[in-house]
Amino acid sequence: MNNWIDVAAEADLFEGAGIAVTPQNHDIAVFKLEDGVYAINNECSHGNAKLCDGFVEGHHVECPFHQALFDVRDGSVQCAPATEPVKAWPVKIENGRVFLDLQT
Ligand code: FES
Repeated sequence: MNNWIDVAAEADLFEGAGIAVTPQNHDIAVFKLEDGVYAINNECSHGNAKLCDGFVEGHHVECPFHQALFDVRDGSVQCAPATEPVKAWPVKIENGRVFLDLQT
């Protein structure tokens, strides 16, 4: 069963950047790209950095601490020093609101 949680207004998002949201004690970064909105865990798998503050290029976000690259679509690591992926969350947009499925 899905557990869609309203986390933000679509208008809060700006293309090519991330914002932090904290539904139900999760720390999640939401990114708006040219082709959609994506959500991954906000904390870098390599350290205590917030990926919402990272530089976004294409489908990648660069960790602000040591420049590891993550794919915001699935949380996979694209470049060291991080070696572990971060969790990706399903996103939907409805009536101008951003929902995350926290069930998965
Ligand atoms: Fe993110 Fe080191 S804390 S790459």
